[in-house]
Amino acid sequence: MCGIIGILGSHEVAPLLVESLKRLEYRGYDSAGIATVNEGRLDRRRAVGKLVNLSDVLVHDPLPGHAGIGHTRWATHGVPAERNAHPHRAGRVSVVHNGIIENFRELRAWLADRGLVQESDTDTETVALLANLFLSEGASPEEAVEMTLQRLHGAYALLFIFEGEEDLLIAARKGSPLAIGHGDGEMFVGSDAIALAPFTSRITYLEEGDWAVVTRAGARIKDGAGRLANRPAKTIQIESAQVDKAGHRHFMAKEIAEQPSRLTTALNHYLAEDGTFRLPGQGLDFRAMDRLTMVACGTASYACLVAKYWFEQIAGLPVDVDVASEFRYREPPIPPRTAALFVSQSGETADTLAALRYCRDKAATILSVVNVAESSIARESDLALPILAGPEIGVASTKAFSCQLVVLALLALEAGRQRGHMDEATHAERLAALRSIPGLVNHALGLSEASDRVAAKLAEARDILFLGRGRMYPLALEGALKLKEISYIHAEAYASGELKHGPIALVDKSVPVIVMAPHDELFDKTVSNMQEVMARGGQVLLVTDREGANVAAHGVWEMLVLPDVAALWAPILYAVPAQLLAYHTAIAKGTDVDQPRNLAKSVTVE
Ligand code: F6R
Repeated sequence: MCGIIGILGSHEVAPLLVESLKRLEYRGYDSAGIATVNEGRLDRRRAVGKLVNLSDVLVHDPLPGHAGIGHTRWATHGVPAERNAHPHRAGRVSVVHNGIIENFRELRAWLADRGLVQESDTDTETVALLANLFLSEGASPEEAVEMTLQRLHGAYALLFIFEGEEDLLIAARKGSPLAIGHGDGEMFVGSDAIALAPFTSRITYLEEGDWAVVTRAGARIKDGAGRLANRPAKTIQIESAQVDKAGHRHFMAKEIAEQPSRLTTALNHYLAEDGTFRLPGQGLDFRAMDRLTMVACGTASYACLVAKYWFEQIAGLPVDVDVASEFRYREPPIPPRTAALFVSQSGETADTLAALRYCRDKAATILSVVNVAESSIARESDLALPILAGPEIGVASTKAFSCQLVVLALLALEAGRQRGHMDEATHAERLAALRSIPGLVNHALGLSEASDRVAAKLAEARDILFLGRGRMYPLALEGALKLKEISYIHAEAYASGELKHGPIALVDKSVPVIVMAPHDELFDKTVSNMQEVMARGGQVLLVTDREGANVAAHGVWEMLVLPDVAALWAPILYAVPAQLLAYHTAIAKGTDVDQPRNLAKSVTVE
């Protein structure tokens, strides 16, 4: 949510800032801007909308300088407009910010009493005004930033540059991640390592509360208490190819297509040759748990809902699932012998992180399933399990969801084994079935053409319902979320059995109803619910397997047929048609698939 970058370079930095912002654009695309110091002079260029608009501005009005900062915005305070675009400037200071300054109203009033009035509606300009005020009162840039930070409440990743200072960049982190990149006589600071990947792989992650004075010679880092902090640099390998579309029309298409190989990578990472489960670190004792609390947001929370079925059925372990934004303020009791498991692609989602800290304060064992291994959620966990999906750039989560499911499935199997909830033969059979999932997912990708055909019709609908039962209910939720976020069609998901308790009133011939129904132990019940829909004129799109298609094809409007799959793991396979339907419907509607309106990836504000 908002991407920031700062560079102290040895050449012109404007093109490098833009290159880096391209890699951060998934965090927001309401506006973009850069500022540089050139021959001592601060200047900036900003443009509303996508980065390409800023690039156009720079063609006509280039911005020279070897030191600069850049920003791509997901609007929080103030509409997307040039005056609200970062970098913000006050006198000798320019600032970019990711996060929310919660006390900005008081600060703004305090500044206004001193005759310092904002031009923008943002919380960030307040930061620039404060720092400039302290500079004008005689503070050095470092002192001015320190005095400013002491007055800020809320979450921030901030970068400051100063008029007259071509070898100085000050960075501060509280609640939003920041990475420092070490080059050869050059230094970089960005929201994540992906942004820095074109320039360097030597990265230092700032810790919570850290701030850093960066020059071309290196970075001097202080912790929240003002003590010098030694933060080691690590070498992080992010191949540029991983953040390219690799010939696909969209990142989302590439990420859907990558799933067989990503799932295989995840499975191989956790399974030894002999099929035993390999956990990093000190291992995990599921016998020491009476309860598992799972917390996440959005798609990741649906992965948790699927996993609830698995942990309860396979391991007899009771599971609560909650969305983080509700969990964190509910003050839920956390009994002894509870483990708390947080699932997050980015590992930076503000609500999920806050929920994690709540559980840590209540002495729960903290586990996480994350994609970004160096993320805050990973680093604050007792045990962080990477899903190894590789960078996910499309705003709609796809490969991260299926990789989350595979890692959670492995955990549930291990829990079942440790707790003696299944015999060896059942364990081996379930594991073998899980191992076959990447191949089946590969097969399911072949439904792209059929999905495209169906999507042409779905694109005409105003409302769409998704139905599923048991393990497929969370998949219905995921299908509806995916569809609405990228095609902007209103979609709702219901547990099939809930339909006649109210939602069936919505059904008429204008409402497509997508039924996710593998031929499992609940199939007949789902089919009965489907018949109730069809009896009321509802247009059913049945997503099922060959066996299901043999039994229930009659009278349905459309059908997508997947390969047969072990019922337990069907949710992983059925994620593929859910993704393909959303993707092709969005294409049919002509929406922006990778950067849908109003959204951003990595939601670092609550
Ligand atoms: C939907 C989507 C979001 C995220 C949610 C949590 O396609 O991507 O719903 O799943 O914002 O994000 P992470 O997993 O980064 O915590």
